Amino acid sequence: MDDAQYPAGPPVQWRSGPATPYEVDDGGLREDMVAADPLVQFSRWLADATAAAVPQPNAMVLATVSASGQPRARTVLLKQYDPGGFVFYTNRTSRKGRDLAARPLACLLFPWHAMHRQVIIEGAVTALTTAQSEPYFRSRPRGSQLGAWASRQSSVVASRAELDDRYAELERRWPPGEPVPMPDFWGGYLLAPHAVEFWQGRPDRLHDRLRYRRADGGWVIERLAP
Ligand SMILES: Cc1cc2nc3c(=O)[nH]c(=O)nc-3n(C[C@H](O)[C@H](O)[C@H](O)COP(=O)(O)O)c2cc1C
Repeated sequence: MDDAQYPAGPPVQWRSGPATPYEVDDGGLREDMVAADPLVQFSRWLADATAAAVPQPNAMVLATVSASGQPRARTVLLKQYDPGGFVFYTNRTSRKGRDLAARPLACLLFPWHAMHRQVIIEGAVTALTTAQSEPYFRSRPRGSQLGAWASRQSSVVASRAELDDRYAELERRWPPGEPVPMPDFWGGYLLAPHAVEFWQGRPDRLHDRLRYRRADGGWVIERLAP
């Protein structure tokens, strides 16, 4: 890294181009057009994002908080969802795994910027059991299965070679044809939503925000100021 490349002087100001995306009004989001259940509404918007060829529409930002209160966000992939919630898979000893063990609350954000949309989901997180996690692990490519074993996710690695050597060792341990077992430090998590916000960009910063909030076993839809 050549630090001399970094511009000296005052902070770099971000300047957007002549047209901001919200100058294009696509009709917005109204109470009378959304589903009564946020999971149904989510599946409509995920289908829209997929149809619009948003890259990796199932990529979502997962925010967690550590035991000491330090927030951290990172991208993970949504692998399943149903009325019970949203499922992702990861290493349980990772930073996010440790955060969730200490504070089992999290926030998910789908950044579908190209569509002037985002969905923000808040909820409580539980770890899936081994039996619930295994079918997905088995469906993954062999390389990803070995990669899950090779990576002590979020720990410091001395070098790239250390990682490659560990992977090569695991390839010898489970040669082609032999099933790779799911590591006991790896698995799924379910985020059961208690609030789901659908955000649709509109002109003049008067964006539409409809939030579903759990109440009395059902959902209340409220409009939030943009
Ligand atoms: C598009 C994308 C998808 C990702 N999907 C996952 C995933 O499903 N599970 C996962 O553990 N990490 C995934 N990652 C890597 C995470 O962002 C992160 O680097 C890793 O989980 C370690 O995070 P942590 O140290 O905060 O626990 C993905 C990264 C990107 C950019």
